[in-house]
Order: sequence, then C-alpha cells, then structure tokens
Amino acid sequence: MNIVQLKDGVFEVGAVDWNQRSFHGYATPRGITYNAYLIMDEKITLIDTVKEPFADELLARIRQIVDPARIDYVVSNHAEPDHSGALPRVMQVASGAKVVTADPAGLKVISGHYGVEFDYLPVKAGQTLSLGRRELTFVATPMLHWPDNMVTWCPQERILFSNDAFGQHLATSQRFDEEQDLSVVMHETRTYYANILLPFGKQAQKVLKTVRELDPEIIAPSHGVIWRGHIPQVLSEYDHLASDEVEPKAVVVFDCMWGATEKMARTVVEGFARKGLKTRLFDLRVDALSDIMTELHKAEYLAIGSPTQNNTMMANVGALLTYYKGLKPGPKKAFGFGSFGWSGQAVGEINAFLESAGSQIVLDQAQTRLLYTPDAEKLAALEEAVASL
Ligand code: FEO
Repeated sequence: MNIVQLKDGVFEVGAVDWNQRSFHGYATPRGITYNAYLIMDEKITLIDTVKEPFADELLARIRQIVDPARIDYVVSNHAEPDHSGALPRVMQVASGAKVVTADPAGLKVISGHYGVEFDYLPVKAGQTLSLGRRELTFVATPMLHWPDNMVTWCPQERILFSNDAFGQHLATSQRFDEEQDLSVVMHETRTYYANILLPFGKQAQKVLKTVRELDPEIIAPSHGVIWRGHIPQVLSEYDHLASDEVEPKAVVVFDCMWGATEKMARTVVEGFARKGLKTRLFDLRVDALSDIMTELHKAEYLAIGSPTQNNTMMANVGALLTYYKGLKPGPKKAFGFGSFGWSGQAVGEINAFLESAGSQIVLDQAQTRLLYTPDAEKLAALEEAVASL
C-alpha cells in the first residue's frame, strides 16, 4: 500500500473513500479521504483514526511501518465518527495505548459514542505531551465545528494536524496540495467550509490568528490534500470565507410544477446579468443543496422561487430553507418569487423566512408573485425590476 511521508518519521496512514458520494447529505462527487497520521518516536503516536469500515485499511498501512500493537498514544482531535469510528478496532490491537482527547468534551463524546472505557489521557488547551524527540501541543478549537474539536501542533516538525479545519472532500492518490490543480482544491475547500464550518466564522477567525502565530510548514487536515505548497493561499481564502464580505454575484434557486416559476427564474437571471452580476441558476429538482450553499455563501443577492402547492411552498424549497437556517449564511439582498393559481402563499413565506434570517427584501411581492403563466409583458417588467435593483 502507498504510504505518504510528511517528514522523516511522520506518515499519512488513513484511507481513501473513492466512491462515497454523500457526507451526511453533502454531495461529494470527488469522494472523501479520512486522513490519519503516524509519528514514529520513543512514544509511537497515531493522530486520529478513520471511518469504521476503513479500520483494516488503516491498520494495514500502519503495519507497513510498525506493528500497531506498539502504538503508545492515539490522539483524537475530534470524535465525529468519520475520525473516531475505527477507534475501538485500533484500541483492540493497540491495547496498551492511551486515548488523548480534549478534557472534558472529547472524553464525553467518545465514551458516549462507543460506550467503552479506554485508557484515557484527557488534555487541556495548551497542554504539551512529550513523545521523546518531539512534543505535541493541543490547541482547543471548540465549536469548529463540535464542542470537542482541537488541533495538534508539533513544533519540532512545524506540522499542524488540523482535523476538519482546512479540509476538503477530495479523494486522490496524490496527497499534497502542490500535486493538484489548485483551482479544484480551492473549490472543494470553499465547498467544505460552506457546508461544515459556515456557522462558526468567529471561531474560525480565532483559529486563523493562532495558525499564523504558529507559522506551520505543513497543515495536515483529516480530509483531502495536505497543505505544504500553498499555505498562504488557503489562509487567505479562510480569511475571506470566515469574514462578512460578500462578492458581486447573485444566486437564483427554484423549484416548479408546470414551468411558470422556471420562466420567472430565467427572467430573474437575465435581470441580474444585465446588472453586471455573475449569476448562477440552480434547479432544486436536480442540484445538490451543498452546491447551492457553496455559491450562496458569498453571494450579495439571493432569489428563491416556488409556486404555491397545497397552500405553501414546494417541499424542496422547504428543505433548502431548513439547510439555510442551520448553516446561517450572512444577510443578503433577497426576494422570493413564484407563480400561483389561486391562493399564492409561497412567496410571502419565503420572504418571511429570508427576513427572519436577517436578509433585506429588495423586491415586493407585487412584482415577484405572478398569477398563472406570466406573459411576455409581465416577465419583461420582472426583468426590468431586477436589473434596476
Ligand atoms: Fe470530519 Fe467533523 O468530521
């Protein structure tokens, strides 16, 4: 099996999940990796494990370097099962190892998930653990994105083991950033941030400050490629992602029944384009919520369209708003739109949601809620209203 070496005695030993296309609903067309890192020192240390079905792959990679029974420490930076699922199996083999985890949040989550008592070494923020020639320092990053999250810093190697932070869902055999098309890695970095870390921008800003002070040579996340050649670029991208800045672009999202609301959606796109905005159109019948969230995270304008079905918005639009409510992208200049046959509540419901999420409604229902299939004159008026915003 392929073993990637980060530095002399520091290896990536995790698993590549080439065919996984969903991470609890987040579409992953390029697959996923669960990175784990082995440090060979007087105390042999594994940093994070992998998703449970990949436990044997993890152990097989470790076995090419050392008998896993000799592992002294297993550091759990984060207890979500994509990183801790293989922990019980690893601990069966490495029966003398201690599980190093954040005190008290990591301890609580791991024991809660697995219902087993490992030999724990709970660590507080800033605590240092000597491995022999090297040491590890633990940096708490609570709520980025679970209460237990921490990152692990190895000052002798200048490696930051960052877990979910700076990760991307990107399965690849070439594990360093400079071996990849940077535009693809950055796109997957933005997608990961928008769908996992977005509610926690303030925490991300604090972590960025700490990372800059540490000045790592390598940032080794637990998903995707390892940052080595483009660290300034990913830190700068995270500055932008974690800020309140928006970009001059618009996102138009819709579902429809018989085509009228789709005509309106295309008209709204033309209006935004006339305004000079880069605009993306998403059809909720075919597009993934995670791709929509990636685009709308930094969009200045957002328009959401739905006809009225059974006196409310269509179910796909409700799903989008639920996803939006949880991830909390910043305020937008926004409006709902849609056609209706008799009662027509959907647009008002969308507007009420957007307002409650802090957005400003920039087009009134009189312009965006149209009876039956709108004719050319009504569509032209809608386009003009959007272009004039
Ligand atoms: Fe990659 Fe929050 O787990």
